[in-house]
Amino acid sequence: MIGKKMEKALNEQVNAEMYSAYLYLSIESYFKSLNLNGFANWMRVQTQEEMFHAMKMYDYLIERGGRILLKKIEGPQTEWKSPLDAFKTVSKHEQKVTGLINNLVDLAIEEKDHATNSFLQWFVTEQVEEEANADELVKQLKLMENAPGGMFMLDRELAQRVFTPPASAGTA
Ligand code: FEO
Repeated sequence: MIGKKMEKALNEQVNAEMYSAYLYLSIESYFKSLNLNGFANWMRVQTQEEMFHAMKMYDYLIERGGRILLKKIEGPQTEWKSPLDAFKTVSKHEQKVTGLINNLVDLAIEEKDHATNSFLQWFVTEQVEEEANADELVKQLKLMENAPGGMFMLDRELAQRVFTPPASAGTA
């Protein structure tokens, strides 16, 4: 059975992952308004990944005998200055999420909750990829600042991204 402190912290993380999905859905709609459908597709996949993260945590908490208490999801930002600005938001947000995951690991260690620590390692690894993906797009868009043609090529490339649930789609 999971401890009360850990239960509360994981509930907060379910909310944070759902907020991430909400934020990325908002960015998707911004890209749609610009007719950048490939960029929008990339954000849709990112939204699906965040929902996967939220549900992975939700299932784990239940498996450990915890109680899910869903809270209000904060409204996300709705406007950006440019696609670069939007991807800077993604990058900054992923860095914040990495900090949240690290705090959860610290708490699991403090609470001697080895099972939760082990469960969270999947998220630690996932965050390395999440940050790298966002950073790469920020860098590419910076290079394209004076070459708008590149943006349309990138849009076509990002249209190829598909959501693939990780093989270990269970609760561990
Ligand atoms: Fe759930 Fe993008 O981290």
